[in-house]
Amino acid sequence: MGPVANSPLDRSFAQECDAADPLASFYDRFARDDPSLIYLDGNSLGMLPLATAERISEVVRDGWGRGLIRSWGDWMALPRQVGDLLGQHLLGAAPGQVLVCDSTTVNLYKLARAALDARPGRCIIVTDDDNFPTDRYVLAGVARERGGELRMIHTDIDRGVSAESVGGAVDEGTALVCLSHVAYRSGALADMAQITRMVHDSGALMLWDLCHSAGSVPVDLDGCGADLAVGCTYKYLNAGPGAPAFLYVRDDLQDQLHQPVQGWFGQRDQFAMGPSYDPVPGIGRFMTGTPDIIGISAVSEGVSLLAEAGIGALRDKGMRLTGYLIELADAWLVPLGFRVASPRDAARRGSHVCLSHPQAVQLNEALIEAGVIGDLRAPDRLRLGPAPITSRFTDVWDAADTIRRITGAEKATRPRGSHGEEIFADEQS
Ligand SMILES: Cc1ncc(COP(=O)(O)O)c(C=O)c1O
Repeated sequence: MGPVANSPLDRSFAQECDAADPLASFYDRFARDDPSLIYLDGNSLGMLPLATAERISEVVRDGWGRGLIRSWGDWMALPRQVGDLLGQHLLGAAPGQVLVCDSTTVNLYKLARAALDARPGRCIIVTDDDNFPTDRYVLAGVARERGGELRMIHTDIDRGVSAESVGGAVDEGTALVCLSHVAYRSGALADMAQITRMVHDSGALMLWDLCHSAGSVPVDLDGCGADLAVGCTYKYLNAGPGAPAFLYVRDDLQDQLHQPVQGWFGQRDQFAMGPSYDPVPGIGRFMTGTPDIIGISAVSEGVSLLAEAGIGALRDKGMRLTGYLIELADAWLVPLGFRVASPRDAARRGSHVCLSHPQAVQLNEALIEAGVIGDLRAPDRLRLGPAPITSRFTDVWDAADTIRRITGAEKATRPRGSHGEEIFADEQS
């Protein structure tokens, strides 16, 4: 029997979900040059909000073109102002603890190095082997610089890092634990409150990477007692390629930490051009050099749009979109050789899902060709991120339908061995 009307497998079900979606009106607030394109990669590079294109041209034309250097009067406060906006609406951080500046990689270095120095006598940094490469590389570099050790927790890449494994890895020698809140491959969501508590019990500091969390899941840094955090703004915050990142340092830690990039934007009485570095008190000391004003303006627009939507509604839709994708994958794609490589419990995942398949590389290319953009993550995963503010339920249905058609066609035309077994393309070469 074929799918009945209003079965989730029927496209009309997705259309009804879109019609009832409280965030539906945000769809048209993004640049959509090709209305037929299905974009499920907002977890890598978010779409362009129309308001951002306007704001950037205003900053360029009026602020820079007309105001020239006089505009710095307004611009100087932007890293903190936009940091506070982000903190208030998306990170659960009271004012004065978040800055928008530098890249995630650079901020990670600044905070990891400062944290290690703040725990004299302890020299171990703990992370997990599924953490994003830049995190592992930076932490290894910091450990080497300070004569310390980087201790790796082994993590199941489909399930993400667990509190128990963190508990088993920290001890009286641990200075810092650094983990991603939402895993970049599986989308697994770590338990921030419990892990932070465990790390504190061992006397270490906790640094969270929020690249895949900010704007997709509610984050409560203050409520969890988090020490430090970093994250990027070009994914769910839709601030554009290379837009500046953010950092969070808890209020009471700020004056205890010495950040290693002693730039003049963190300097007391900056324009006195004094002979030696004397950092300002508070979050300002985590600034380095001249901020990227155009980029921060884009962050401001992206965050304002998400604040208008509300993180609660975004999270609710994100869980439903990814749940729907998994439901369609179970019905259509698992029989074609896919495996769901993300947590099935919506409360345990962010806003993207990985589907593993031995032919993921070829399938991803065919999907892009067919107008469905997701991405590929080694070793064999299609990563699909329906960003709640830009994606529709029909996008998820259309993407899953395209994947099943492409995979089905591949399967039908694939050469068979003498016993009728399938021969994959890469086995032929
Ligand atoms: C989890 C995570 N951390 C860090 C980064 C690196 O950030 P950047 O290249 O902006 O420094 C990324 C980039 O995608 C990421 O996904």
